[in-house]
Amino acid sequence: MSNKALLVTGGAGFIGSNYITSFLEKYPDWQLVNLDKLTYAGNVDNLSAVNDLDRYHFVHGDVADETVVNEIFRVFDIEGIIHFAAESHVDKSIMDSNPFILTNVLGTGVLLEAARKDWEAKGVLKERRFHHISTDEVYGSLEAEGKFTEETPYNPRNPYSATKAAANMLVKSYYTTYGMNVVLSSSSNNYGPRQHDEKLIPTIIRKALSLERIPIYGDGMNVRDWLYVGDHCQAIDRIFHDGEAGESYNVGGGNERTNLELTHYICDQLDRVKPHFLAEKDLQSYRELITFVDDRPGHDRRYAVDDSKIRRQLGWSPQVSYLDGLKDTVEWYVTKWEEVLQ
Ligand SMILES: NC(=O)c1ccc[n+]([C@@H]2O[C@H](COP(=O)([O-])OP(=O)(O)OC[C@H]3O[C@@H](n4cnc5c(N)ncnc54)[C@H](O)[C@@H]3O)[C@@H](O)[C@H]2O)c1
Repeated sequence: MSNKALLVTGGAGFIGSNYITSFLEKYPDWQLVNLDKLTYAGNVDNLSAVNDLDRYHFVHGDVADETVVNEIFRVFDIEGIIHFAAESHVDKSIMDSNPFILTNVLGTGVLLEAARKDWEAKGVLKERRFHHISTDEVYGSLEAEGKFTEETPYNPRNPYSATKAAANMLVKSYYTTYGMNVVLSSSSNNYGPRQHDEKLIPTIIRKALSLERIPIYGDGMNVRDWLYVGDHCQAIDRIFHDGEAGESYNVGGGNERTNLELTHYICDQLDRVKPHFLAEKDLQSYRELITFVDDRPGHDRRYAVDDSKIRRQLGWSPQVSYLDGLKDTVEWYVTKWEEVLQ
């Protein structure tokens, strides 16, 4: 077997694990190296479909550790990198920004530098690809109208998005300074199977099934554009293979919903699939558990991306409708927690 491989970082997390699973199925000739620190957010069980494949290699390590990263480049001929690894939870970044700076900024710098040195030495710097996975949160917050385009200036408003914006700038600088073949993608909020329990949708479902209060920040009117993780993985695949060097691509789901609308829909799905839990607390609907709590500091009001560039240039569009995707997602978490919550 050739030692040419794709390097994925943060592949034991939510989006990375979905991406690795679909990549290895679609590209049977590729090897794949997954570098993951296995923080609280990483889980090797997310990769149960590929863990036993010979062409899948798991490396337990930190993207900010030069020794580990250089060793990967020594052992494998890294054809391309898809860099997912990040500290990703906004609330945690507000409590302590340090791990965010180390992983998201320093880690991206270490990875860029290792790739640059290896690819320059082999004379392939302009051919091999570095794909940085980023977020629409780098653009800041919107009022009721308008959408972020790729030209919208960065205006991050919390430590998480500030570190993602800093990483984006570093990646772009490797294109302008060294001519490295980089691409960036900024997606809206993802949903789907294998997301960490701390995030909004799993939290709503878990709290509801435990018959606990479902906490909603502020007035619940903050708007997010929800993207099914499988659609995001397909967009990444297109950008990685066919995106233009030095370019950024926005990826959206075209599904703007307030947090309250989203919560109502999830509660309605749970009323359908798990009605018998409600009787325990004499409830008619899980909606009755919704409780408004103090708003998150600096809570961005609305995100919405204009993703016409990827649609026009790369022919991508989301395939999973919001209602179908969310229905399947609710059922996936219900199955996951079924035994624990009996
Ligand atoms: N989830 C979303 O809605 C969303 C939206 C837009 C962009 N993104 C971006 O997509 C990427 C993946 O997000 P996610 O939701 O899958 O995150 P996640 O928190 O579920 O997973 C992150 C993974 O990175 C690993 N990791 C963390 N620090 C590391 C380090 N120093 N070295 C190596 N591995 C490390 C963790 O162990 C985990 O497996 C992130 O870069 C995030 O900023 C996420």
